[in-house]
Amino acid sequence: MSLPGILRHREVFSVAGQDLEKAGTVSTEVQRVLRKLGVEPEVVRRAGIVCFEGEMNIALYTPGGRVILLVYDDRVELIFSDYGPGIPDIELARQPGYSTAPIWAREMGFGAGMGLPNMEANSDQLEIRSRPGEGTVIRAVIRRRKDDASTGGRGAST
Ligand SMILES: Nc1ncnc2c1ncn2[C@@H]1O[C@H](COP(=O)(O)OP(=O)(O)OP(=O)(O)O)[C@@H](O)[C@H]1O
Ligand SMILES: [Mg+2]
Repeated sequence: MSLPGILRHREVFSVAGQDLEKAGTVSTEVQRVLRKLGVEPEVVRRAGIVCFEGEMNIALYTPGGRVILLVYDDRVELIFSDYGPGIPDIELARQPGYSTAPIWAREMGFGAGMGLPNMEANSDQLEIRSRPGEGTVIRAVIRRRKDDASTGGRGAST
């Protein structure tokens, strides 16, 4: 599904799989790009969290993948895709606390099962599509609400 809106910026980042040393670098770069484009600080903050969790999951569970950043005048979209093992039960994976993280990753502080719930909490829309053995695509939409501070209104963008 695609929403209307004017595309201001599109950028693709690759994420190395099985490499937690570099994990987190895409979210740092995404936040830098968003700030440079003048995106609202609250949106930059939420996009940073969503991106960090999505890229961590690619680094941890797949041989690698990529993140597409789309900046529209009314929203930011992050699309994560990988050719990893896929998620057999998406509803289960979305539950807080569910994790298949290996012991070595748990020893590094991962595996609380909070990544996908955290992505959900910081997005206005989160779609997960996955086929076991083929890979996973996650699309997160974060709306830009320029009027939030002044009116407290919902959804109005002008
Ligand atoms: N890209 C992916 N490919 C395959 N499986 C995934 C992917 N992303 C998430 N999963 C599965 O969904 C589960 C839940 O992911 P989630 O990010 O919520 O928690 P976690 O990674 O286990 O722990 P945390 O993110 O809190 O460190 C993972 O344990 C894994 O089984
Ligand atoms: Mg995770």
